[in-house]
Amino acid sequence: MFRAFAIFAVVFAPLAVTAVGTPFGQAAGTTGGGSATPATPSSLAELTTWLSDSTARVIVLNKVFDFTSNEGTTTGKACKPWTCSPNPQLAIDANSWCENYESGAATTTVTYNKAGVTPLKVGSNKTILGSGSNAGIKGKGLKISGASNIIIQNIKITDINAQYVWGGDALQIDGGSKIWVDHNYFQHIGRQMVVTGYGAVTKTTFSNNVFNGDGTYSATCNGQHYWVALFTGAGDQITFALNYLYKTSGRGPHVSGTSGYYQNIHIYNNYFVSLDGHAIDPEVGSKVLVEGNYFNSVKTPLLSGDGEAYIPTTSAETASCSSYIGRACVANKLSSSGSISTNKVNAANGFTDSISKAASIKSADDVSTYVQANAGVGIVN
Ligand SMILES: *[C@@H]1O[C@H](CO)[C@@H](O)[C@H](O)[C@H]1NC(C)=O
Repeated sequence: MFRAFAIFAVVFAPLAVTAVGTPFGQAAGTTGGGSATPATPSSLAELTTWLSDSTARVIVLNKVFDFTSNEGTTTGKACKPWTCSPNPQLAIDANSWCENYESGAATTTVTYNKAGVTPLKVGSNKTILGSGSNAGIKGKGLKISGASNIIIQNIKITDINAQYVWGGDALQIDGGSKIWVDHNYFQHIGRQMVVTGYGAVTKTTFSNNVFNGDGTYSATCNGQHYWVALFTGAGDQITFALNYLYKTSGRGPHVSGTSGYYQNIHIYNNYFVSLDGHAIDPEVGSKVLVEGNYFNSVKTPLLSGDGEAYIPTTSAETASCSSYIGRACVANKLSSSGSISTNKVNAANGFTDSISKAASIKSADDVSTYVQANAGVGIVN
């Protein structure tokens, strides 16, 4: 039986490796590399070229492509913005950050991997698809800059100079549209696990990803990664759904911070567990609608900022959504977590588009079981 099955799998394997499932939320309609013949790069150099060229591609990663030592190391100035213990992150003095923002901090010299600070460029019309539960990129992240129609699915992005802030991001998007980031796994990153730059990121969904903050070094000295998700573009339209945030201490996500910009972020059915810090951090210009999430042992589910975030937990609060989006919101669930203050229902007026109104949102009671079984790698392919 087993042998027969194995032969069958080998023969038909190429047919099984386009993106799995259907993008939903803002990224609905994204096709990535579409029907391009799936192919696996034979080297780091080939992967680098395939990601960045202008050919539509379905790039299948069959293992972890390890860039960690590929470009050697460099030594430079750093500072110590955090004096807590144990194991605070240090900050590489990128763009004079230490002088500009941490001028009182002690300085030092650090050696880190060069590969981490220059991400791989990703062009338009690409599907990047991992095969199995241990495929992806290590020691270097991805950068989308003004590109569109991209699917990133079932890959791990890990181990990018984790000790050092400014050591590298896992996924940067600076201007882009139609991007589906689904069923991936992020851990041990120096700076952001995901981040949007100042260019607008529209028609984009982050779904079913694992953001594992568990690591040795952190800005908060509690073994929990602070720099999880940062959405700061000039007009971001993003769905953030069914993700699993575990042992993170900040930016889950942080939204905005630039006067004159706006971001509409629909956050639903995520499982936030064991956050010894904060989850949602809405700053100026942001509108964040938070529905059907389960906050389990989250110290601060919502920071009070200058942005607008609405996290309904009662039936009166869920009903208040109707006048904005034509339906009640789905209640969030809080267990062993801090309370919600400064709840701003006006945030809902950023979600009057048909996709947000028609979103299929589970009860928060079902989120823990569903997300633990379905998020991350090794599930869809
Ligand atoms: C992506 O594909 C679309 C549709 O085929 C095409 O119009 C566009 O030029 C492609 N983009 C790039 C950068 O190749």
